[in-house]
Amino acid sequence: MAVTTPSTIDDSFRKRFSKSAELYQRSRAAIAGGITHDSRNFAPFPIYVERAEGSRKWDVDGNELLDHWMGHGALLLGHNHPDVVAAVAEQVHRGTHYGACHELEVAWAEQIQRLIPSAEWVRFTMSGTEATMLAMRDARAYTGREKVIRFAGHFHGWHDYAMAGYQPPFDTPTSTGVPAGVAQSMLVAYPNNIESVRELLDAHPGEVAAVIVEPGGGSNGIIPTNVDFLKQLRTLCTERNVVLIFDEVITGFRYSPGGAQQLYGVTPDVTTLAKIVAGGLPGGAVVGKHDILNVQSFTGELHHDRYERVLQQGTFNANPMSAAAGLTALQLVGEGWPTQQAAEAGEQLRVALRDVFERRGVAGVVLGEASVFQILLGEGMEEAVATTDVQRLMAGRGAVNTLRKAMLLNGVDLMRSGGFTSIVHEDAELAKTVEAFDRSLEALQREGLA
Ligand SMILES: Cc1ncc(COP(=O)(O)O)c(C=O)c1O
Repeated sequence: MAVTTPSTIDDSFRKRFSKSAELYQRSRAAIAGGITHDSRNFAPFPIYVERAEGSRKWDVDGNELLDHWMGHGALLLGHNHPDVVAAVAEQVHRGTHYGACHELEVAWAEQIQRLIPSAEWVRFTMSGTEATMLAMRDARAYTGREKVIRFAGHFHGWHDYAMAGYQPPFDTPTSTGVPAGVAQSMLVAYPNNIESVRELLDAHPGEVAAVIVEPGGGSNGIIPTNVDFLKQLRTLCTERNVVLIFDEVITGFRYSPGGAQQLYGVTPDVTTLAKIVAGGLPGGAVVGKHDILNVQSFTGELHHDRYERVLQQGTFNANPMSAAAGLTALQLVGEGWPTQQAAEAGEQLRVALRDVFERRGVAGVVLGEASVFQILLGEGMEEAVATTDVQRLMAGRGAVNTLRKAMLLNGVDLMRSGGFTSIVHEDAELAKTVEAFDRSLEALQREGLA
């Protein structure tokens, strides 16, 4: 009698997503590295999606997947929200690029001013990476200093300055190809440790332009930020005349309609925004105090305009399509309920996932706030959270590759170690994710991986 061995998570994944495997093969001949965003690097191959609607997306094999990537956090309103679709559809017939200023960009900026406490002025970019790069340049120009303090494990996009101190070992840029001078202009402090910031300021007197921080926690909350620490950071930056930059690319409009700064009552000097700000289309912004963002103004005074001004261009900044989507999404955010509803779903999900961990006796934690959740696997994660042990927390995320594969087999697409809830994640969707998590942990246990 033939003995059948149950297939492993990996075998089942390869079978269920076989058309994705074929596309990946094709892609590797055409696209460098086969993927277009390092986060999509996935063994044995990434999945290829054909269309999306509401909380779901469908891949090339016809699998229906409940989505927690939500456009890397851009889709607080879910896929294809009818108001955003209508605004974009109307705009596409009116022109996608005017090569000129237009009223929608003004209305979009005004709506951001209404929502974000630190937004005295707004300046648009095309991405979060561009926003943090510009914010640092603005702060350097404003203060006439070169160094910027950032925190180990926090993510600020992929430009050269953001590569210092992102992943362990924190003294080596996470990407090669970064000039040593650029990396040396970044100083790496320890999250939730105000003394580490004070020491760097003392060691580099008169050299530090800015401190940049993810106020909701490093790498989208896997290294939770303590609110008292944010308050201490605000006080220290004010005392030392250093520009405090909140990178709210994820937390903006998500932690509250006014971002983490409104939720925590700590106002930075400059804020970077992207994702939700553009309603699911490409876009970003730097917002902040008039006197700082004034480094971007033309005054007509020759010395200022050539030697004191920050240059910024960008063919697609505030293009009419992104402006239409962004303005429409932020008008809905302004009603308050989308952020709140998504956050309630997030809390419901975090509680239920923790229950599964407990019931199954598997070691791990569920982190996150508002509509963000992060699942970290491994022993001692509670202690790593309590002591802000960045390396261990980041390692806990590294362990989830097989979990994500198992979740996909159960019809749920996690964004690496977790993801987002949005207004389209209602009770039925949350129940599906919880059940998928339960079955996935069971499968991991069967294979001795949890
Ligand atoms: C906190 C934070 N800053 C900056 C970025 C970079 O934004 P983008 O991917 O739009 O360049 C991200 C992207 O995930 C982010 O999470």
